[in-house]
Amino acid sequence: MQGDYKIIDHSFDVVVVGAGGAGLRATFGMAAAGLSTACLTKVFPTRSHTVAAQGGMSAALGNMGEDDWRFHMYDTVKGSNWLGDQDSIEYMCRNAAAAVYELEHYGVPFSRTEEGKIYQRAFGGMTTHYGEGQAMRTCAAADRTGHAILHTLYQQALKHSAQFFIEFFALDLIMQDGECRGVISIDMATGEIHRFHSKQVVLATGGYGRAYFSCTSAHTCTGDGNAMVARAGLPLQDMEFVQFHPTGIYGSGCLITEGARGEGGYLTNSEGERFMERYAPNAKDLASRDVVSRSMTMEINEGRGVGSDADHIFLHLEHLGPELLEERLPGISESAKIFAGVDVTRQPIPVLPTVHYNMGGIPTNFYGEVVTLKDGNPDSVVPGLMAIGEAACVSVHGANRLGSNSLLDLIVFGRAAALRAQETVNPNDPFPGLAEDAGHASLERLDQLRFASGSRSTADLRLEMQRTMQQHCAVFRTGELMNEGVNKMVAVADSFSDIGTVDRGLIWNTDLIETLELENLLCQAVVTMNSAANRDESRGAHARDDMPERDDENWMKHTLAWIDDAYQTRIDYRPVHSYTMTDEVEYIKPKARVY
Ligand code: FUM
Repeated sequence: MQGDYKIIDHSFDVVVVGAGGAGLRATFGMAAAGLSTACLTKVFPTRSHTVAAQGGMSAALGNMGEDDWRFHMYDTVKGSNWLGDQDSIEYMCRNAAAAVYELEHYGVPFSRTEEGKIYQRAFGGMTTHYGEGQAMRTCAAADRTGHAILHTLYQQALKHSAQFFIEFFALDLIMQDGECRGVISIDMATGEIHRFHSKQVVLATGGYGRAYFSCTSAHTCTGDGNAMVARAGLPLQDMEFVQFHPTGIYGSGCLITEGARGEGGYLTNSEGERFMERYAPNAKDLASRDVVSRSMTMEINEGRGVGSDADHIFLHLEHLGPELLEERLPGISESAKIFAGVDVTRQPIPVLPTVHYNMGGIPTNFYGEVVTLKDGNPDSVVPGLMAIGEAACVSVHGANRLGSNSLLDLIVFGRAAALRAQETVNPNDPFPGLAEDAGHASLERLDQLRFASGSRSTADLRLEMQRTMQQHCAVFRTGELMNEGVNKMVAVADSFSDIGTVDRGLIWNTDLIETLELENLLCQAVVTMNSAANRDESRGAHARDDMPERDDENWMKHTLAWIDDAYQTRIDYRPVHSYTMTDEVEYIKPKARVY
């Protein structure tokens, strides 16, 4: 090693990596239960990407019409295109109302109905009576719900005795004898290395939207936890399922909430036609996201896009009136002004489907425990390791997530992980042994990148990866396009060996951190391309022009993908949990597609 690194050691019962909605909910739940808890985060907690969530959090409260958690469960299973694990989905939907009331009591300032109840809006794919009516299920704080939740959770976390390590970048898991025993990280402000020895690590590191060129995700969404898991020799699950949100602002990708359509907004093509009536006569503009994104792309491909290049679509809100826009959609009204120069009270917003969410991630059970395929057991728990939130694939979203099920997932499974840790981690137990050189291999990797003198710049290589993913693994896919994408992506990833960094320091070395993040993104991009090329059917967000049908006989199974140092991927499968948690609902069987 060329550099000299000072290691500072810590011991905590639990180490949570990430301080978004899931990470904070788990952190304060564990601290409140008397476990010594550290939370490491690469950004200040209230800057985590949850802050950008707009439209709301689903729960069958029934405040604005009849509702039932079983209807919610049915919608989520159907929305997942039968790839979601039904025990996990039942757990989430049954616990949704309690999760919302818990947040209300902690102080989340939800919008209110005339009677003072929590306001709920319509979202795509959310129905009553098993597909009959439109549910009003999404609990909202105007269009800044994530912001409200994140700030409230951080206040709760501060109230308890969790210890925060802010602007710390996690480098790797410390794995020993098949168990996770901690995390090694760098304090970005000082360059000091901090090694955390723990009984339980919880990854809450979010998605990897930044593997794509156009996304609604923050620049920090680089899937660091997923990459740490892959480097630890564990599989990632269902990475081929990447959700495109129908309404990213044309050009910037900035999110315009689905709540805008929930409040009555609609899409038109260059002929002024409300084309969703053709594609989804029942649900129209509130069909599920995969359906709306595909329909928009088809309109553009068939020459009915708007704008001088006929390459986007209009979202209309003008008819809703300034008062409603001011009360319910103030955030997106401002975003439309800033990023598209549009006054939403008078003009439509130019929009385009944009990468928004990763359904795939680290496989877990509904306690948040990471699972792997071991000795023929597809639900084998990896001791000492949990994953929650977008980093995890629990799998409640299957092949396609319904809007507003993500904030719910964060809170329900953040809480579930805290409850599980109370059962499994004993503060009085001794810490498991730690090898003297634990984490040293990660330091060597860090050192190599810090002094790398190759010919490729981080920014150039990142752009090449993003363009490759956008071109070969987007809304529409074919076998030929994806196979070509696999070769291109592996070649892009291979050229990481020729990376060159320029800053050799350790204090706020953003050149080094961005390079570490790029390495994380590359392995996920390769896994995503390979998993997509491997799935010979269309399901949810994975829509193949050359294989348009869902194939339940052969493909109702989760993809597991392992990747090695040479970017070679190995694929195997886990069965979908097509059984429920209790006998209160029957297994929901696949049906023909009706939107
Ligand atoms: O459209 C939105 O407000 C996004 C919500 C979600 O992805 O859950």
